[in-house]
Amino acid sequence: MESMVDLILHKREGGAFTRAQIDTWVRGAAQGTVPDYQLAALLMAICLRGMTAEETRDLTLSMAESGRMADLSGVGGVCVDKHSTGGVGDTTTLILAPLVAACGVPVAKMSGRGLGHTGGTLDKLESIPGLRVDLSEEAFLRQVRDIGVAVIGQTKNLAPADKTLYALRDVTATVRSIPLIASSVMSKKLACGADAIVLDVKAGSGAFMRTPEQARALAESMVDIGAQLGRRVAAIITDMDQPLGQAVGNALEVREAVELLSGRLPEDDPLLAVCLLLGEQMLLMAGLAADAAVARSMLLDALKSGAGLEKLRRMVALLGGRSEYLSVERMDELCAVREKIDVPAEADGFVCAMQAERIGTAAQLLGAGRAKKDDAIDPAVGLVMHVRRGAAVRRGDALCTLYVNDGSRAQEAAALVRSAVRIAPERPAPVPMVYGVVQRAGA
Ligand code: URA
Ligand code: CA
Repeated sequence: MESMVDLILHKREGGAFTRAQIDTWVRGAAQGTVPDYQLAALLMAICLRGMTAEETRDLTLSMAESGRMADLSGVGGVCVDKHSTGGVGDTTTLILAPLVAACGVPVAKMSGRGLGHTGGTLDKLESIPGLRVDLSEEAFLRQVRDIGVAVIGQTKNLAPADKTLYALRDVTATVRSIPLIASSVMSKKLACGADAIVLDVKAGSGAFMRTPEQARALAESMVDIGAQLGRRVAAIITDMDQPLGQAVGNALEVREAVELLSGRLPEDDPLLAVCLLLGEQMLLMAGLAADAAVARSMLLDALKSGAGLEKLRRMVALLGGRSEYLSVERMDELCAVREKIDVPAEADGFVCAMQAERIGTAAQLLGAGRAKKDDAIDPAVGLVMHVRRGAAVRRGDALCTLYVNDGSRAQEAAALVRSAVRIAPERPAPVPMVYGVVQRAGA
């Protein structure tokens, strides 16, 4: 067997790996038998030299098979998973999982926690009193069979090689690589066992991929991995140059999800628009709708009838959560804070840019997110935006309201929001919410 030094050199010189070579270092990463410095050097070589489509597929499979592969074959129907590459104010999972399930599609999803400026579904769910996300795999399967939807934390042994490699990438400037991101995301999706996967790939200042072109390349790589491995995968590319919803913070985002599922948001609301587009793809892939228009009307029916909200309540109750909180009025209690502080516009004009990353960081500073892995989260805090890009504002208008319990960093958070929102005299050209749908690589 080749040594790690040989493998690093091979990639450094631009060579491609065989599956057997990939298995060597992926197994080493999962079992802790290859030292971090060699893995880090190899990751940097991959970052600089790239990987072919075949290598990316092999890496995905190798990482997926480094741990337990969930078996959802006992669940009737086409089981669909949904994944977002991460963003700010992105509450789509809490809306879509129950809404799509209410339309008859079984949804089995393992979610993550927030890191840095991005929020995580598990942290949002845990803002509901009593709720626990650490279900066993058996309980996960039972819940999908019983109520058609389960959203839980990743089970311990899910793609352990990715866990090691991702932690190293995070501290060696090797996160932003298309083959590494695509294989990391897809290895976990494969290991979760769904038949079909819908991906929301974000582009913009709040995302890993800063431009729509980069986001499309990432989307195509992930769709291609699915095609090579026999899983149906579709991706939509959406804007993350501003927060998707208005709320950024854990209970605040659950409240917004409940508001949406109660039919209280207008149909042109961007969060609803992205949910409908993702939901259409999920229904189409599950074979429950003949075309996108049929899928959309099924989703809107489940929204208007309250069936989606009812599913969310059942899902929360099965996780031990107090589902009676899931009304807009009761959610207000969970969003109660010591102090609400408006951040005013400093000039007349139009909002022409919004740095989503800074807005996410402002919420994190208030206690809505973690700076380190083990930091505690305050579920009630965060912020609610009052403007979107293109809005006309006057000096003194509130750009957003900060929800504050610990005031020590409120001024810093307010300054970050002010620096994130650029106001100019001219109305900016509109930027699309959705850049495209990728169903087949290269299509
Ligand atoms: N999310 C992941 O799971 N992996 C990456 O590499 C990037 C985002
Ligand atoms: Ca099935």
